Amino acid sequence: MKFSTSPESDVVVATADHVRSRMMSDSSGHDWWHIQRVWHVARQIALEESADLMVVELAALLHDIADWKFHGGDESAGPRAARDWLSQYDLAAQIVDHVCTIIATLSFKGANVPTPMGSLEGSIVQDADRLDAIGAIGIARAFAYGGHKGRAMYDPQTPPESHHSFEDYKRNSGPTINHFYEKLLLLKERMNTRTARRIAEERHAFMELFLRQFSREWNGELREPE
Ligand code: ADP
Ligand code: NI
Repeated sequence: MKFSTSPESDVVVATADHVRSRMMSDSSGHDWWHIQRVWHVARQIALEESADLMVVELAALLHDIADWKFHGGDESAGPRAARDWLSQYDLAAQIVDHVCTIIATLSFKGANVPTPMGSLEGSIVQDADRLDAIGAIGIARAFAYGGHKGRAMYDPQTPPESHHSFEDYKRNSGPTINHFYEKLLLLKERMNTRTARRIAEERHAFMELFLRQFSREWNGELREPE
């Protein structure tokens, strides 16, 4: 199989400029810097795993361009916006289709809803996106998103749910701490590549530490645990 390996490709550079200008001012955790981190991490994993760089880079750059979370739950908005943007370039239909398929299938859809990726390139972009949802940055993004959506930080009366369908997951409006149990703590086991699994370990442990400390402070425990 022949892969395109053109990191400095004009299309990639123009796409990065386009996405940067559209997402610079976001305050929901889906800002340009999220895209840039996902792009760079995905590129590094793609190089290690010998994947098609062009597909990985374009999918990483365009993956949140019209996320369902900000388009009334419409899952087709993202792939459509990516296809519209890419249509101005003379790219092989196979590349464009692959990028759009990745964007259409990438998202987390609930604890009990599998999200299999059909290609190595898709697996890599999904891993990079999920790595950015955990660890210190993941914690910051979760609270940024919760604030953006007007969610409570924590409510002891509202336990986390384990969603069985994407529709249920989409409807959920629970407190942000619940999101750790409904998604973020589950991501480590759902990484596709070995590289991402390794990186996820440390970030996962950091979230567990954060949750322990949050609980201690919430409960007014003033002494260090033995
Ligand atoms: P995905 O498409 O898999 O949801 P994104 O790149 O859109 O991935 O990232 C989702 C981000 O939004 C994560 O950082 C996540 O913490 C945050 N997020 C999504 N839903 C919630 C929620 N209910 N509460 C808090 N944060 C959320
Ligand atoms: Ni994302």
